[in-house]
Amino acid sequence: QKPYEEKYRPAYHFTPAKNWINDPNGLIYYAGEYHMFYQYNPFGDVSGHMHWGHAISKDLLHWQELPVAIKEEGDVSIFSGSAVVDPKNTSGFATKKGQVPMVAIYTGHIEKVNQSQHLAYSLDKGRTWKKYAGNPVLDLGLTDFRDPKVFWYAPENKWVMAVVLALEKKIQFYSSKNLKTWTHMSDFGPTGDTTGIWECPDLFQVPVAGSPGKSKWVLMHSPAPYMQYFVGEFDCKTFVNENPPGQIFRPDYGPDYYAAIMFNNLPSSMLPVSIGWVNNWTYARDIPVTPWRGAMSLPRESELRKIDNEWILYQRPVKAVDLLMYDEKSWYNVSTLEKWSVPETTTNAYVTEIKIDRKAQSYITVDIAGGALLINYDGAGAKINIKRGGNNAFKNPAFEEHSSYSATVKDKGPELNIKVYVDQSIAEVFVNNGEIAMTAQIFPLQENLPPAVYSNRKDGVIQSIKFWKMRSVWTKVKRAPSSK
Ligand code: FRU
Repeated sequence: QKPYEEKYRPAYHFTPAKNWINDPNGLIYYAGEYHMFYQYNPFGDVSGHMHWGHAISKDLLHWQELPVAIKEEGDVSIFSGSAVVDPKNTSGFATKKGQVPMVAIYTGHIEKVNQSQHLAYSLDKGRTWKKYAGNPVLDLGLTDFRDPKVFWYAPENKWVMAVVLALEKKIQFYSSKNLKTWTHMSDFGPTGDTTGIWECPDLFQVPVAGSPGKSKWVLMHSPAPYMQYFVGEFDCKTFVNENPPGQIFRPDYGPDYYAAIMFNNLPSSMLPVSIGWVNNWTYARDIPVTPWRGAMSLPRESELRKIDNEWILYQRPVKAVDLLMYDEKSWYNVSTLEKWSVPETTTNAYVTEIKIDRKAQSYITVDIAGGALLINYDGAGAKINIKRGGNNAFKNPAFEEHSSYSATVKDKGPELNIKVYVDQSIAEVFVNNGEIAMTAQIFPLQENLPPAVYSNRKDGVIQSIKFWKMRSVWTKVKRAPSSK
């Protein structure tokens, strides 16, 4: 099989040429390039020997893999973290005029012994990296203290770090003038989803849709194996949640979206953009793919909307994704008395969009890949339910256990819109233009089955169904250079 054409290989989602990846790390835009670093094992297709892999892109979709950026050294492996550009050279890493350091802040991990925060820097736009000789820069002598996300807080001329005490289920905030000395400011948590350990925090500002100039702070993180967010205010010391406490808000309500973080340093004209790891630790090591293992979500842009008393983080794929769509077909007023399938398709890389009038149609099921994923809207409780089943080749108890998910539609508008991005082994579902996102992996036994819709209501009529094929982002890409 040709590279990027292997069974289940996504056509328009990022996967590495080979080997294991997990969390996106150090997402940053600089000098016309989006950089994505990620947890990467250059030696195999299961987690271990974590390094920071590296890919760059000019449009967030067509990625070019570069050699490994930050390497495991001795017993210290390179766990998750973030990257900043330091144009004021607060870190002092630039030694010549005009150099702008790009600085990675990551967790140095010594198995069962210690996790502490470290720096590495690049003076050549991320191409080569040096570890800081004074590492670690923040060490509490703990085994589960990780995933620093750092950003510049302009009003106080400071760097701010969000980092987790994973076992205590706390997010801590620190500040620094130079990235090297850190002062503790406050702790957040445990609250919300406290079932699993807490990982990968991020704190960022998100514009409020329809209110130019207004934004709120969002604190997002990964309580294993899912994600949650809080919306409120941050005064450069403490984060205060303003969403109803005791209620859980998730950036994604499906089984396969984890460790997402936002890009740093985006042009101010852009909305915040995040990428997550499309996987779930409970079965991630066993998903039936080779020679790579692990994929990234589509880049998603975010806005906030308030519905009743709740701030909702809306997310939708960035506009550049539209450029991959071709061969649009649409159908109107489709009766769902019988199961209705998109008449022709020979692809499992497509987008489909279903619109219904919620008064006329209170129950609808969208069938992806012959039952590999069923997406159901039930007007009774305004629920979106997804269920993996049927046509799935991955027979794994954890995968099967994590197969049914549900979210409540809060927008009470007259229309419901379900848009599904299907890409071989990934389905990203967006409801009502981003009010709800749900991501699930599928491994269809029988491939290239068209999507279908049906309802158990006799009066069922669907306003419109649209379907687009999707181009591969890998056709012109050469194989990544060997990372050794
Ligand atoms: C989250 C995580 C992080 C850690 C990294 C190790 O998926 O467990 O907490 O830094 O993965 O690869």
